[in-house]
Amino acid sequence: MEKTFKALRIMEDGDGYTKKIEDRKISQLPEGDTIIKVQYSSLNYKDALSSAGNKGVTRNYPHTPGIDAAGTIEESSNPEFSHGEEVLITGYDLGMNTDGGFGEYIRVPSEWIVKKPEGLDLKESMVYGTAGFTAALSVYKLTETVGKDSGEVLVTGGTGGVANIASKILVKLGYDVVVATGKVDSQKDELLNLGVKSVVSREEVQDPKGKAMLKSRWAGVIDTVGGDILGDVIKSIQYNGAVTTCGNVGGDKFQSSVYPFILRGVTLYGIDSVQCPMELRLKIWEKLAGPWKADNLQAMVQVVSLEEIEGKIDEMLAGKKVGRVILKHRE
Ligand SMILES: NC(=O)c1ccc[n+]([C@@H]2O[C@H](COP(=O)([O-])OP(=O)(O)OC[C@H]3O[C@@H](n4cnc5c(N)ncnc54)[C@H](OP(=O)(O)O)[C@@H]3O)[C@@H](O)[C@H]2O)c1
Repeated sequence: MEKTFKALRIMEDGDGYTKKIEDRKISQLPEGDTIIKVQYSSLNYKDALSSAGNKGVTRNYPHTPGIDAAGTIEESSNPEFSHGEEVLITGYDLGMNTDGGFGEYIRVPSEWIVKKPEGLDLKESMVYGTAGFTAALSVYKLTETVGKDSGEVLVTGGTGGVANIASKILVKLGYDVVVATGKVDSQKDELLNLGVKSVVSREEVQDPKGKAMLKSRWAGVIDTVGGDILGDVIKSIQYNGAVTTCGNVGGDKFQSSVYPFILRGVTLYGIDSVQCPMELRLKIWEKLAGPWKADNLQAMVQVVSLEEIEGKIDEMLAGKKVGRVILKHRE
């Protein structure tokens, strides 16, 4: 008889979307040349959207979310991978329209798989997950242009997952980091504990007057928020500085004149973790596992079971701050 495994399934019914842990069979997984026994996954906002029936993320239900997964190779027809080898996946179609890491097994194309780098264990790789990978990719791009002695680097959306890890990496690399947050009153001390130089309010980096240019202030900006804030910080970038953009929590549109670009030579880097080419992907994971690795990585997370992840999804959808949540499957 075919072995079964557990997965969190999102069901579409007349009244909306419901979650249920179900027994599944490998033969029910989508096509792919490699089967992975998943040990850890992590919770991202995209997983919450998929669980809530967001068709921009997941078109067809029932579905298993989980855009991140780390585990061991169970079976692969690609000779590059051997049984028991430790691997991880972030991005591509995992957890979107391909059953993802909230199931104990996944079947995927081997082109998506990253061999776990030395220096990180499987759990640590999921403490980073897509948020950490996106943070590191943003830092990698910014530091192509902005040296650590160029001046202050601003990180927006300060208490968020991407911003938090990006700030840590920049501090480790010796940059002067300023964090902008909507929660100065409650989170200032926690953010200062990251080793950043100062914490400012969102309003302080914005420009209510809508000027074309502002006084040069930042050598670079890692923007995780998008919307008006992105348009505003571009105006405050120093000569030859740079901005990275990865998120849209603050809006998916921004306004800018051409002046910061044609008068100050500002560079705007788009950050995409999903289709990031494998060569760069491997380079970024090597950095996260080595010189950029945070000292207290394991302390950053809550580890939950498949049964508990349902509640964490609901908290995330309700806008309650849940911190970084790691899903650990049964042994
Ligand atoms: N491009 C990619 O490949 C990629 C990959 C991963 C994530 N993302 C995107 O990157 C963004 C950040 O992801 P994350 O995982 O760090 O999210 P997160 O943990 O939810 O953090 C987002 C932070 O943005 C701030 N924020 C929330 N609503 C805001 C608003 N209306 N206006 C201004 N700031 C607001 C909050 O920080 P403060 O209260 O401290 O300001 C919040 O903690 C998201 O949009 C996500 O979809 C993109």
